[in-house]
Amino acid sequence: MMKKPLLETLKGHTEDIPPIWFMRQAGRYLPEYKKLREQEPNFMSFCQRVDLIVEAVMQPLRRYNLDGAILFSDILVVPYALGQQVDFLPHHGPSLNPIATFDDFKKITFQSFDHFIEAPMEGLRTLKQAIPSHTTLIGFAGGPWTVLCYMVEGKGNFPFPRLQNMLMQEPNLVEDLLKIVIHATSKYLVAQCHAGAEVIQIFDSWASCVPEGFFEKMVMDPTAQIISAIKEEFPDVPIIGFPRQCGGDLKKYVEKTGVDAISFDSTMERSEQVPPCVLQGGIDPQDVVEGGKKMRDRADQVMKRMSGRPFIFNLSHGLVPETPPEHVADLVNHIRQAG
Ligand code: CP3
Repeated sequence: MMKKPLLETLKGHTEDIPPIWFMRQAGRYLPEYKKLREQEPNFMSFCQRVDLIVEAVMQPLRRYNLDGAILFSDILVVPYALGQQVDFLPHHGPSLNPIATFDDFKKITFQSFDHFIEAPMEGLRTLKQAIPSHTTLIGFAGGPWTVLCYMVEGKGNFPFPRLQNMLMQEPNLVEDLLKIVIHATSKYLVAQCHAGAEVIQIFDSWASCVPEGFFEKMVMDPTAQIISAIKEEFPDVPIIGFPRQCGGDLKKYVEKTGVDAISFDSTMERSEQVPPCVLQGGIDPQDVVEGGKKMRDRADQVMKRMSGRPFIFNLSHGLVPETPPEHVADLVNHIRQAG
């Protein structure tokens, strides 16, 4: 069987050319995605269509030589599968029926959970056969803190004051919610591994707004519990953590959670400390919007810093809708030639 560079790197091998994939490599910056997206008016119903999610994953793989293919879904599929109402309003992002009281909390149910996660599972099984043999299939979920941000706030509203207040005023409610989300996320990710995911990434995109003193309880412990549930059944599936801009002690994060790799952002890039694990990361998504020599120079700087150690080329956050796809192609070619 052909070796997969992304998997090899996650096992600790250093490749001459780093494996490459991008967060949000599928999606709205691609004209072919926008066309496909028209087939379902609602984003959550799009995520329930096996044919459409498989096609969305394949689109960037046809354009560029990528080492990773990430399941097309969303971190808000977990609250959706738990019975919370989740909508995506054009130009406004996610909109959920916020959980504010114990009565709202009581509506959360596992009743239809397995039914709702069936489409992504079938998507993964199909993709395992469809992607190129050197490409690694990546499953994902949101970190519980980030998912709770949306469940309680009802929308993207950094720094998520409702969850911050609830943490101080209704700690028991937060605790009960957290337990449910940890359990649901573990179940979801173990199922993804059964369906063929070879690597798991946990997106804790809002780790930066955890109140002082709560990082262990709200980010590290929940991540550790999810990872131990995965490793119990799938000890060899590597896990990438993405505690974005957490500013915390990454060495401690690695030790406490058991992640095999960290996806770093620009704040970590500036810090002196290098976490004791495989690293994933790269330039800023805005650099790819700009493109050209500046983008290539930035990429060279990252490659130079990371040379000689196991490293996966990615970005500090996901590709944004304004990105010209040609810039992505240029970046991939540049890294493959520079390596
Ligand atoms: O290619 C990939 O990376 C896979 C697909 C993917 C999506 N969302 C598709 C999507 C992944 C990995 C996510 C993760 C996700 N979703 C995160 C964590 C990563 C990050 O970017 O920080 C978060 C915080 C969300 C929540 C979310 N979903 C928001 C805030 C929004 C609206 C704003 C936006 O960026 O679009 C979404 C919607 C969403 N998720 C879209 C896509 C393609 C756009 C919806 C559409 O096509 O109509």
